[in-house]
Amino acid sequence: MKLRTFPTNTNIEGKRILIRIDANVPIVKGKVVDGPHGRIARSALDINYLAHRGAKVIVIAHLGRPNGRRVPAYSLKPVAKRLSSLLGTTVKLSKDIVGAPVLKAVQNMKNGDILLLENIRFEKREETNDASFAKALAELGDLYINDAFGVCHRAHASTYALSEYLPSYAGPLLSNEVSVLSKLETQTKHPFVLVMGGVKIETKLPVIQRFATDADHILLGGALATTILAAQGYEVGKSVHDDNAKAVLAQLPKSVLEKIQLPLDVVVASSLRADARVSVKMVEEIGPKDLVLDLGPKTIEQFTKTIRSAKTIVWNGPLGYCEMDAYRVGTKEVAQAIAQRTGPAITIVGGGDTMPILEQLNVADQFTLLSTGGGAMLEYLANKTLPCIEILS
Ligand code: 3PG
Repeated sequence: MKLRTFPTNTNIEGKRILIRIDANVPIVKGKVVDGPHGRIARSALDINYLAHRGAKVIVIAHLGRPNGRRVPAYSLKPVAKRLSSLLGTTVKLSKDIVGAPVLKAVQNMKNGDILLLENIRFEKREETNDASFAKALAELGDLYINDAFGVCHRAHASTYALSEYLPSYAGPLLSNEVSVLSKLETQTKHPFVLVMGGVKIETKLPVIQRFATDADHILLGGALATTILAAQGYEVGKSVHDDNAKAVLAQLPKSVLEKIQLPLDVVVASSLRADARVSVKMVEEIGPKDLVLDLGPKTIEQFTKTIRSAKTIVWNGPLGYCEMDAYRVGTKEVAQAIAQRTGPAITIVGGGDTMPILEQLNVADQFTLLSTGGGAMLEYLANKTLPCIEILS
């Protein structure tokens, strides 16, 4: 698919550019959790590029799911702060999203100024992809750039309808993601290893199904693995797992099941307390009171061995209970192994939950692609496209 990318050689001085970014990151004690490779930090590079070339940059973003209501906890104030500090300039936050007050604020902008609109999801017409709302947004700009890969699976007014009312382009962050991900359709080299963790089997299964033929090995960890172990009749104790997985698993042909590598051994604990009893057990030894929290050493050895000979690697989701440092060992070892394989292999990693670990290990920039998409990356992988990308092609 050929995307309409933003032409770098046009004069944009004085042009009002609407740029949609994905600034949906956790907020802790009023501050964004966004490291140097976070969604906001990476979007800031493209905003900076536009502002430095004299455009008036109007930034559109969402935070959380406020369902069309003004919820103070979801205000973009912390995002404006983060952008201001990254860009070394004041990024003003407009309380209004469309209408006369914003039009006036835009009229008052000087070349190179940056204005952030308040959480676009405070407006209920956003998620209904409302044409009148998209038109009102379009009045604020001369052209529109979508740089929000992470939200391209949502056909909302600011990600979809808006592109019908202004000259519209894919921004650099978005086009880079699509260009690397689309290589999986044409340039997959073998062995191709798919590594999946995390919780929600219903979002991961379509990806496993899509790569069922192409992938040579499918390595599973985290709650995804306990879910499948439980569906296969293993005891998983008190571990997080999805009881409805049996029916889902039945959809997978035998040839796919044969490619799946489940943990051989796991780290289990009696509880999540810091003083809990922790031990390593083979999966057939897991007891009814155990909590499976990480991959065991034998599994790590087997997974990293498979990764070391791969030529294409796609990884999404933590492989253990990463909220606690003690149970990040499997995720860390797998992250290191994938990072080291970049070069001989195309390595595609979905950030999100694993981002702090990748930054802590100093490997965040050592992958062919560190995707800013969570659900969007999974949907893209499963369907080979996304609605908001289609409209820019
Ligand atoms: C994400 O965090 O995956 C994106 O920003 C999309 O958010 P949503 O799932 O609330 O639409």
